[in-house]
Amino acid sequence: MRKDTSGNRLIQNLREDYRASTLEIQDTKSDPVEQFKVWFDEALRAEVPEPNAMTLATATLDGIPSARIVLLKKYDTDGFVFYTNYGSRKGQELLLNPRAALVFCWLDLQRQIRIEGHVEMLSKEASQTYFQSRPKSSQIGAWVSHQSQLTKSDRSELEARELALKERFKGVDQLPLPDNWGGFRVIPDNYEFWQGRTSRLHDRIFYEKEGETWGRVRLEP
Ligand SMILES: Cc1cc2nc3c(=O)[nH]c(=O)nc-3n(C[C@H](O)[C@H](O)[C@H](O)COP(=O)(O)O)c2cc1C
Repeated sequence: MRKDTSGNRLIQNLREDYRASTLEIQDTKSDPVEQFKVWFDEALRAEVPEPNAMTLATATLDGIPSARIVLLKKYDTDGFVFYTNYGSRKGQELLLNPRAALVFCWLDLQRQIRIEGHVEMLSKEASQTYFQSRPKSSQIGAWVSHQSQLTKSDRSELEARELALKERFKGVDQLPLPDNWGGFRVIPDNYEFWQGRTSRLHDRIFYEKEGETWGRVRLEP
């Protein structure tokens, strides 16, 4: 096999043939949240690393996209919930343009799930309940970080702020919810379940809302 000058495989030759599983429409649930649960539970059982890590794509009002990983903290028929700083880049983009796309990638299972939808802020009460269920160090972290802002110096400024907040909240187990921190819920308009297959002829099952129910179709790979 040809190698590059560092002895590594050439990028254009990196290639896996996917043979782990198959996905037929008749094997899928009629409700996509139930299908998500089937696959999420399988990802948990397969012990894939960080199974609830998902790529979140947002966009500015004039359509400039950005994407990053966040952690899914809850899902049900109401939507998919994650938590963040509302002043961050993603937070600001979602407040102005409340639409998002999510992608889960579980390579051990040769699976991808894509979700697109509209976005709502969680209520203060729901955000507070989750915030106060986090370890105290994470609660402090949310108070410390002005997420996505420019840091004026090195880490020392951040660590000084952390120290000051630890002092301020000494003896307090549950910190109050910071004003700029909380959850967003992505309410899906469509889902796609992708199962890798051999020769790049993958299985893709696409769900779209049809009134109160969901329709599902197979897409070309
Ligand atoms: C595995 C993983 C999990 C993450 N989980 C979160 C999360 O739940 N919430 C969050 O705000 N950022 C999370 N991040 C950090 C984001 O990817 C990102 O760096 C940060 O939120 C700033 O993004 P923004 O400037 O686009 O708003 C996570 C990153 C990784 C790699």
